[in-house]
Parts: sequence; structure tokens; C-alpha cells
Amino acid sequence: MTSTFYVTTPIYYVNDVPHIGHAYTTVAADVLARYRRLRGFQVHFLTGTDEHGQKMQRAAEAQGITPLEMADRNSASFRELWAKMDISYDDFIRTTEPRHEQGVAALFRRLAEAGDIYLGQYEDWYCVPDETYYTELQLKDGKCPMCRRPVEKVKEESYFFRMSKYQDRLLRHLQDHPEFLQPESRRNEIISFVASGLRDLSISRISFAWGIPAPDNPRHVIYVWLDALANYITALGYPDPKAEPFQTFWPSAVHLIGKDILRHHAVYWPCFLMSAGLPLPKAIFAHGWWTHEGEKMSKSLGNFVDPHDVIDRYGLDPFRYFLLREVPFGLDGDFSEAALRQRINSDLANDLGNLLSRTAGMVFKYRDGIVPASGPIEPLDRELRELAEETLTKVDQAFSLFAFNRALELTWALINKTNKYVDSSAPWSLAKDPAKKERLGTVLYSIAESLRLTALLIQPFMPDAANRMWEQLGIPEPLERLDWKEAGRWGALPPGTRLRKGPALFPRLE
Ligand code: MSP
Repeated sequence: MTSTFYVTTPIYYVNDVPHIGHAYTTVAADVLARYRRLRGFQVHFLTGTDEHGQKMQRAAEAQGITPLEMADRNSASFRELWAKMDISYDDFIRTTEPRHEQGVAALFRRLAEAGDIYLGQYEDWYCVPDETYYTELQLKDGKCPMCRRPVEKVKEESYFFRMSKYQDRLLRHLQDHPEFLQPESRRNEIISFVASGLRDLSISRISFAWGIPAPDNPRHVIYVWLDALANYITALGYPDPKAEPFQTFWPSAVHLIGKDILRHHAVYWPCFLMSAGLPLPKAIFAHGWWTHEGEKMSKSLGNFVDPHDVIDRYGLDPFRYFLLREVPFGLDGDFSEAALRQRINSDLANDLGNLLSRTAGMVFKYRDGIVPASGPIEPLDRELRELAEETLTKVDQAFSLFAFNRALELTWALINKTNKYVDSSAPWSLAKDPAKKERLGTVLYSIAESLRLTALLIQPFMPDAANRMWEQLGIPEPLERLDWKEAGRWGALPPGTRLRKGPALFPRLE
């Protein structure tokens, strides 16, 4: 039976065009999806756009267009960026689509049937940019504790969701399932938040109209976070109980999010699901935030990193690599051009690119471009082979911990070991001695094989570079369609494979 894997990104607000923060979560999800596909999983990768709510309505008014016009325009700009970034999503959901609106209305009904919705009066604070309710006590210096922008007083009739009812169950789930919420620091944060007591949550508004009407009382629009979170199941066919994608994929769901939307995902969402009688997602991972050259990115500073610009200047693969290599997933990090250039020149051009061109150069020079068979193995060769095998195992473990930077560190340790192996085995001296012909064959085979496995390991991160390596290694079947059991082991490269000359994998930047 094939294992399934369902990975999601947050659905992005459409009041503006995408920036590096959006690109980050999406690339991480893409890398996971690609890795699992490579390992033979049946994968479903969902992304999309979050198009309702007060913030969207106001942004559209300010631009003098309708919310739907704004959503059409900006939702398309997300899709364009994902195409440019080679994001392999299987589905893209917009919250203004009928399949979603119907699913949300059904979910709302379900919560009501469970006896978890009642009509009341909301009177407290609201942060429009975050679309989040806060109590007086939660505010910091009278401002939003999350984004530090001004909050607004709201006093209106509202439907409430009995979140308090699920406090104990949620707490138990968090305690019993360490993998449910990661990293550990975020889990502890949420455990203490839940333990301190959950208040019922306002789940509708009446003072604006841009949203999904509450069933049976269309004066109310459904709270945009209830609407948005539901995308993870409406995209799978909820509420159709027999929807095949829902049955197949929901049990393996992994939500990647930023740390700013932790509470919505780790508290509200599981409570809604419990009320609806649905299983909880398998894991939620909250990553950190990027600053730009040491500064927080903001509209007022106008210093958002534009992914288009970075890709146009440095290429897609280096950008994808940098995002996941530079900072451990879960921690905050800084985007700087100097750091990006440094990674390109040292890791990509020098360590990896040179290894490939050196190897190809030697195979062409000494063997007319044909990978020789390996002869008897010496300790030096065994060490390389063992490291390669160990790397495959450890990278797999790193992936199950969302430790992307670790997976890359391990891969680079193999690349560096291979570079050292070339130096110590000195093919250029072996080539001078006809008696060492077989030894030279073993060495060249080992280097080529290590490079082939390296291409597999970098494929999820840098699909284009991996394909180019694959082509230069002369392997006929496409990298994306290989059978891991066959290809994911040392020795799978058939001797006699004819390398192909190609341009430098990563040209050095001056
Ligand atoms: N629409 C909601 C999510 C609903 S999911 C059911 C939302 N959208 S968002 O467009 O504002 O942000 C989406 C993601 O971008 C969040 O995960 C957030 O953490 C991420 N980032 C926004 N700025 C960021 C950085 N500066 N750095 C890293 N990620 C950041 O929230």
C-alpha cells in the first residue's frame, strides 16, 4: 500500500502581491511534497488564497475596486509567482469558489448541530490586519500584541463558538502527541495558552458584508478565520462524506505555517474539527520570520524582499536553496544579499558545481566520457560509499523533523567528502600509470555514483539543478519518475553510462 502525504501552506491574503514570507512557506511545502513523491508517497499539495473579510473589503475600497476584482488580480499574481518558482502544487483553492463557500456553510451548520454555536454580543478589541480578536488584557500598550498595529473596539451581535468546551480535549491531545505541534517551543507556548483557559470565540460579524453568509441568518458573515481554516478540508471535498480525496489525504495532513498564525491553527482549528467530529491534522509546523538586512519588513519601510527580483538576478535554484539552507526551519532569519551571494559562490559554485565539472572533465579525459566499472574496493572507497548511504538515511530523518537546513548540511558533508576523495585518490596520477587502470575505474565510478546520489538529495530543493546534473550524468529516465527502491542505493549507476557535456551548474558571481 502506498503511503499518503498531504501538505498545505497557509492561504494567502490577496490585499497585496506576494513577498518573501509567502515564498518561504510555499517553497518549504514544495520541498516536502517533492521529497515525499520521490520516496514513493502519494502526495497532495494544497495552496491558495484567502479572499474574504474586513481587511480585504477595506483594501479594495482603498483601491477603488470591488473585493472580487482585487482578489482576482492578486490571486493571479500568487499563481504567477508559483509558476515561476516551480511550485508543484496539486490544487489551488480560492475562498471565493463555490466548492469552498458551500463547504464552510456546511461546517458552520455542523458546529451548530453539535450545540456549539450560540448568539451573543461581542464587545472587545479586533485587529483588522490580523483579523483577530483580542481582550483588553491581551493588548500590548493598547496595540495588537502580534503585529503592534492599532486595534479597533468592536461591539456587535455575534455568533459564538463554544471553544471552552474543547479545552481539556485539546490540552490532552497536545500533551499526548508531541508531533502534532512543532517545534517544541511553539508546542509549549500553546500548551500554556490552552491550560490558562479558552474563551468562547466570536465566529461572525455584522458590520461588513464581504464574507460567507451564516446559514439561516445572512445578516451575519462567517468569521474569516473559520472560513479560511476550512480550506484545508473543503479543498478535499468536505462536506461530502464519501469524497475520495478527503478519505485518502486528510489523515496525513501537515500544515506549514508562520509563527504569527499559530494560535489560529493550533487552537481554533482543532477545536472546530473536534466539534465537527473530524480527526485532527497529523502535524502543524510553525516557522520563523525573515527580516531584510536586519530590519523588520513592513509597508511603511517599503522593504519587502520581492521574490521576482531575487530570482531574476540570482536564479530560482539559488533562491530556493538559500531560503531553506540559511536558517533552521522554526527560527527567525535575516535575508541579505551578501549572505545569498556567499552561499552561491561557496556552496553552489565551488563545492557542488566544481565537483560536477571536475568529474565530467576527468571522465571525458580518461575514459572518453564513459563511466567505467568499479573494480575491487579499498578503504577510501568504502568510506565514501558508507557516508553516502548514511546520508540517505539521515536526510530522511531530517525530513521527518522538518529540518531542511540539516538535510542540506548532511548533503553538503557528502559533497565535501567527495571533493576530498577526489583529492586523496588523485585520478590524475592513476591515469599516468597503465597498471592502475582498474583502480582509476573504481575511483571514477565512485565519484560519479556519489554525484548521482547527490542529485537525488538536492532534487526537492533545486529541481532544475538536479535535472541538469542528471542529464550531464547521462541517465536516461527522468529524475522525477525514478523508483527510489531501485535508484536510491549505492551502485545503481550502470557502468557504461555516457556522460554529457553541459554548462557550469552554478556560475560563480563576481
Ligand atoms: N490568510 C492568512 C492565513 C490563513 S491560513 C488558513 C494569512 N495570510 S498572510 O498572507 O498574511 O500570511 C501568510 C504566511 O506568510 C504566514 O504563514 C506568515 O507567517 C508568512 N509570512 C508573512 N511575513 C513573513 C515574514 N516576514 N517571514 C516569514 N514568513 C512570513 O496569515
